[in-house]
Amino acid sequence: MPDFVSKFTKVKKMRSQLLVVAKKNPTPLYLYDAAEVKTNLTMFRQAFAKFGLQSKVFYAIKSNPYAGLLKTVVDEGVGLDVSSQCELKLALAARAKKIIYTGPAKTEKDFELILCHHSKITVNLESRRELELLAKMAGAKKITMRCGVRIHTKIQQGWTKFGIPLAELRAFYDAAKRYKSLRFCGVHFHISYNKTPEKYVAMLVELANYFQKNFKPQERENFAYIDIGGGIYPQPFEGVHTWNPNQESYFDNYEKTLDKVLNNKFHPRFKPLVVAPIEKFAQDIVVAWHTKISPLLPRVELYAEPGRFISHSAMHFLLRIIDVKNPQLGITDGGNNMFGWEKYQFFNYVPLFNLSQFDLKNEIPFLTCGSLCTPDDVWGYYIYTKKTPKAGNIILLPFQGAYTYTLAQNFIKEIPPVYDVRFI
Ligand SMILES: Cc1ncc(COP(=O)(O)O)c(C=O)c1O
Repeated sequence: MPDFVSKFTKVKKMRSQLLVVAKKNPTPLYLYDAAEVKTNLTMFRQAFAKFGLQSKVFYAIKSNPYAGLLKTVVDEGVGLDVSSQCELKLALAARAKKIIYTGPAKTEKDFELILCHHSKITVNLESRRELELLAKMAGAKKITMRCGVRIHTKIQQGWTKFGIPLAELRAFYDAAKRYKSLRFCGVHFHISYNKTPEKYVAMLVELANYFQKNFKPQERENFAYIDIGGGIYPQPFEGVHTWNPNQESYFDNYEKTLDKVLNNKFHPRFKPLVVAPIEKFAQDIVVAWHTKISPLLPRVELYAEPGRFISHSAMHFLLRIIDVKNPQLGITDGGNNMFGWEKYQFFNYVPLFNLSQFDLKNEIPFLTCGSLCTPDDVWGYYIYTKKTPKAGNIILLPFQGAYTYTLAQNFIKEIPPVYDVRFI
């Protein structure tokens, strides 16, 4: 259950400063909150350290590539996980010292850029074609490129386009060892949307069994990392709409449902997301690591590529109500091109706060729409407010950093600027 109480306290703390920001700057705005990023990063690292394992963190840029955020994580001593040339350029601009390059179907152009910056990069390869191509290109430049391979098992069902089956790891290793231009030393896997740690543990156990059966002890010494990817869910500041528990994105009876929402027929108004705390993830992963992995692979370090865990609370949306069409319908200046999908319309309930008529106790049914020229542009169905919102009121949708800014698009309206807030 997300810690709504402490988040509400922070909203209260942010309010007066944000009203000043809205007075001095045109809205809509993304607000970047570096303090949230630092807190999330510390929580992540300390959870593993508490159980006796130093994890090497590579923040997954794809979850939020804002340059200020990348600078924050790099300043905190963290590496970056990139998945394309454009993300690699962002990582280089942020002066990342360590970079993991993970992503399917890498091309010659991708490897050209990677080789230009080879001393900072580890490549997670995805296929034999990539292996041969990188070996050839690195050899031609007399470079030894650090790399590993992405594997999948039954746990990555539906994700077989990524990497190689675990059963092919031995043959892949033998192929890599033929090239002096490669330092093949790692294994990577990724599992998405984990609200509990079971799948990580199952992957580590399966990997350990495979290594025991297929690699001699001196061969295992060549492995320097196991990269468990991203996918650890944070305690996000959001829930699921009660009327859409399966998070469907097509709705037959949307109008009728909307009527019921606005007539306050749904109690509770949202279903909280139940997610294990990071300590539980860390504890179970570290136990599997110490009992299964370390005895077999004494030199490996644990790499992790958290994205949403670090960025989920890093941004807030600041909007202004432009039109109030009736006592239950308002339109803001910002629209859903700021996050690029129907997140709040169908997928997630997130509290909206009227900063101009502030009241943390009174949440009324009120449809807050964006101003794009499409009906699929909804910020929320309820709002915390003293009285019916008015034109000019400043609205906050807080703690919305993961896979929002990344997916912003120039659809109808331009992407608004980011404002760095430092709360005092
Ligand atoms: C290879 C890889 N690493 C890391 C991540 C980040 O995942 P998350 O934001 O869920 O932590 C992703 C997301 O798809 C990924 O594909």
